[in-house]
Amino acid sequence: MYKSRILGVGHYVPERTVTNDDLSKMMDTNNDWIVERTGIRTRHWFTPGVDTVTNMSKKATEMALERAGVGAEDIDFIIFATITPDYFIPGNGVLLQRELNFRNIGALDIRNACSGFIYALSIADQFIKTGMYKKVLVVGAEIQSSALDKSDEGRSSAVIFADGAGAAVLGAVESDQPGILSTHLHSQGQYAEELYCKDPGSSREVRISQEMIDSGSFFVKMNGNAVFKHAVVRFMEVIQEALDHNGLDKSAIDLLVPHQANLRISQYIQQKLELPDEKVFNNIMHLGNTTAGTIPIALSEAWEQGKIKEGDLICLAAFGSGFTWASALLNW
Ligand code: UT7
Repeated sequence: MYKSRILGVGHYVPERTVTNDDLSKMMDTNNDWIVERTGIRTRHWFTPGVDTVTNMSKKATEMALERAGVGAEDIDFIIFATITPDYFIPGNGVLLQRELNFRNIGALDIRNACSGFIYALSIADQFIKTGMYKKVLVVGAEIQSSALDKSDEGRSSAVIFADGAGAAVLGAVESDQPGILSTHLHSQGQYAEELYCKDPGSSREVRISQEMIDSGSFFVKMNGNAVFKHAVVRFMEVIQEALDHNGLDKSAIDLLVPHQANLRISQYIQQKLELPDEKVFNNIMHLGNTTAGTIPIALSEAWEQGKIKEGDLICLAAFGSGFTWASALLNW
């Protein structure tokens, strides 16, 4: 029986930095409100004609492959987590397969929003554990800024979401080696409309209409308060589930890498788990919330900063649109 281990992580964010003051010129908001309510000071937004989900994920993947010491020819499968693909059809996995000249391997897109990377990691883990694949590329990448309503009406979402890509190369290792211990996935669709993007959808007469454009139904809509309240509960539950499953105490965690939704959510979880600052990784302050991108980008930054050492117990946890939520425990 094999286990899967993260062999390398990489990330890329667009060059364009958007400050809170920049946002205050677009909508009725201000730096103090954004910092106090979200922790965010700057974020990166894409430049049309320059950045795409595909080319950002290409750069993140190249970094992950290099750090893993793995060639593109060694990858057996691609799992691409995004809710903002470059095309409506086909998905982004095949575009990355083309871009990086991978062999004609399978490419799977998944649409699990903020939990997307952990869902993707879990799928990769199952393929590796069954022996079907030896090396799987897992990507989380988004361009959210083009789906944001940058008027006063959309300000609570527009100030938090951002763009970026992260990637991880997973490889099969012997079962006594460090690697993924378990993953835990959940959903509760009754809250789908609390955080969603209604259009373009298939169950309307046409996919894009003037009415949709006029009503702004293609923008991300979020009931921030409701999402926040569910998030803090589910984050704790799913982290505890992972610890219990492995017979571990919260004090065993060396580094918690939470989905970067809002710094206040991370701080709440940190307090509940009684973890010191050095055991929780946050980068929302300079990157905002990049949905499926946040966890692999954070892992890549934490690794670069020497905050992850071989064998460390890492806890990943996420909550978002769906609602979906998920956790993973792994030894690095
Ligand atoms: O990643 C996927 C999952 N997403 C999340 O987990 C996000 C969860 N939610 C949140 O992070 C927070 O709810 C937000 C950051 C979105 C909003 O923060 P909040 O502390 O929940 O603010 P609020 O919605 O309760 O609004 C408080 C006040 C309101 O004004 P009144 O009614 O008290 O006069 C809002 O109109 O702040 C106002 N407000 C703003 N003011 C300045 C809302 N957005 C802004 C803004 N700038 N951008």
